[in-house]
Amino acid sequence: MNTPLIEFRDVYRSYGQGETEFYAVENINFTINRGEFVVILGQSGAGKSTVLNMLGGIDQPTKGSLIIDGDDISGYNEDQMEDYRGRKIGFIFQFYNLLTGLSAYENVAIANEIVHLPFNADEMLQAVGLSKKKGKFPAQLSGGEQQRVSIARALAKDPEIILGDELTGALDANTGKDVLKLVINICKENNKTLIIVTHNAAIAECADKVIHMRNAKIKEIKINENPLPVERLDL
Ligand SMILES: Nc1ncnc2c1ncn2[C@@H]1O[C@H](COP(=O)(O)OP(=O)(O)OP(=O)(O)O)[C@@H](O)[C@H]1O
Ligand SMILES: [Mg+2]
Repeated sequence: MNTPLIEFRDVYRSYGQGETEFYAVENINFTINRGEFVVILGQSGAGKSTVLNMLGGIDQPTKGSLIIDGDDISGYNEDQMEDYRGRKIGFIFQFYNLLTGLSAYENVAIANEIVHLPFNADEMLQAVGLSKKKGKFPAQLSGGEQQRVSIARALAKDPEIILGDELTGALDANTGKDVLKLVINICKENNKTLIIVTHNAAIAECADKVIHMRNAKIKEIKINENPLPVERLDL
């Protein structure tokens, strides 16, 4: 049988102690296969970012196991977490998180210096349609262009897992749609596992799997046998 790339087993994340303790997420169980496109849906405060951040190695469960590619990362120390993030994860943030003092090219090339790279920065900027603007600084780029740089940066180190938390949240609807199509297509073409958090239920039609969260728990997991081709997505 095909072993999943990602497995959450009875994962809890709490904040506070004693009487003030509350669970940001509780009893989270799901699996994700290599190459899958997964959408995490749910209202504000449902626990979506908490799940994504644990997956991205920037937060850890209070309880439970998080198995990635056969390893339980829930007990990793800081050094192991850093190594995990560097090797396995490409994170695309809502507000891009580009380094303002570096050009588009340098923002992508910086991933080069961290790990051994199969792609070069020029190729990645070409893949997101920004070859002509590679010398520009973030302040000289539109929101959609900045997000495309951050997608190129996330992909440049060839991680197995790409994560996006409201990655189109700061963009207008049309630009958001283009950016989303771009990232979904690049991930499919390169067999990357893509997991995005969104408020937008329409995007879920294109996903292989939809994880619906409510009040810190998983309400429903839906598998789309025939996901909508992203070209037909109408946001
Ligand atoms: N660092 C923290 N300290 C305390 N509580 C937190 C912390 N981070 C998140 N929470 C709480 O955990 C719950 C889940 O938060 P989370 O950010 O995962 O929600 P979300 O589904 O991503 O919401 P949104 O759609 O608004 O981004 C919320 O009640 C939030 O207030
Ligand atoms: Mg969130």
